[in-house]
Amino acid sequence: MSNIFAEFVYILITVFWQILTAIISCFIPASRKDVSNEIVLITGAGSGLGRLMALRFASLGSTVVCVDINTQANESTANQIKSEDGKAFAFTCDCSSREDIYRVAEDIKASVGDVTILVNNAGIVSGKKFMDCSDGLIEKTFEVNTLAHYWTTKAFLPAMFEKNSGHIVSIASSAGLFGVTGLCDYCSSKFGAYGFNESLQMELAAAGKNGIATTVVCPFFINTGMFDGVQTRFPLLLPILEPDYAVNKIMSAILSNQRVLLMPRILYLLLILKSFLPQVTYITLSDFFGASNTMDHFKGRAGKKSD
Ligand SMILES: NC(=O)c1ccc[n+]([C@@H]2O[C@H](COP(=O)([O-])OP(=O)(O)OC[C@H]3O[C@@H](n4cnc5c(N)ncnc54)[C@H](O)[C@@H]3O)[C@@H](O)[C@H]2O)c1
Repeated sequence: MSNIFAEFVYILITVFWQILTAIISCFIPASRKDVSNEIVLITGAGSGLGRLMALRFASLGSTVVCVDINTQANESTANQIKSEDGKAFAFTCDCSSREDIYRVAEDIKASVGDVTILVNNAGIVSGKKFMDCSDGLIEKTFEVNTLAHYWTTKAFLPAMFEKNSGHIVSIASSAGLFGVTGLCDYCSSKFGAYGFNESLQMELAAAGKNGIATTVVCPFFINTGMFDGVQTRFPLLLPILEPDYAVNKIMSAILSNQRVLLMPRILYLLLILKSFLPQVTYITLSDFFGASNTMDHFKGRAGKKSD
């Protein structure tokens, strides 16, 4: 009994201390880690956020391993890095295939070395309402947006585990926190990516691997082309983000080992509201914020393959 009481007091003090340091850290610029000796693997490096992150890491001196299903776009990212005297390698990989991920991972380990920062970024969206979405397309969405995170992490975590050092970054989405009409497949795949990150960080902590950082990123829509045509009802509160702004925030979060990044900031408030409001009120408010119509004019990437 006294043991439990002692543990309770210890936990209270620890929690108080952690909350206090978190509040203080909001006002003090976080120190940024040096990534010049890191091997950074980014999936979906051929376009959008992946390409921008690859360029940023290269400018900080990292060796960047660009991975994408689109060989031409991926090589163009790697070539741009090399033309600016950076270090980059390009590997074509279909992240919807576990076999392809494991095959490419072995190639990367043999020819580049152990990946020390893994950024699971590749993603797809069908943009179709649930009943219009074919079974194959739903499976593909989960394979790329969720399951790929498992296979890449399985491939590269063991080396991080051995050294108790590394970083796993999951690019999820605000759609991994809030359901949206017309995004059943996408939202649930991103909820999966968010849950994967949360459980993984618990497992790492329980194993005493505090040298391995995790970061999950949940942005609202970003103007990369992936969600072309979507609309926001209140652009002042929930703006469609510019890619450079989003990548600035993502890089800051990674470099300071921030565990969770939601953007824009109002998402933190909406998440708190969601946790205690009655579901019916949550639906009413989501509808008011436009979650029912945001996908009405979705076009996505022009010329993208549909199922
Ligand atoms: N753009 C947004 O509004 C937005 C918002 C929240 C989260 N996100 C997430 O951010 C990440 C990056 O999105 P983006 O806007 O840069 O998209 P994007 O379409 O510009 O880039 C995605 C990249 O992933 C690659 N890819 C797709 N399928 C693949 C596969 N099977 N194997 C390997 N590579 C594959 C594509 O070729 C492309 O280069 C995605 O996970 C996306 O879900 C995007």
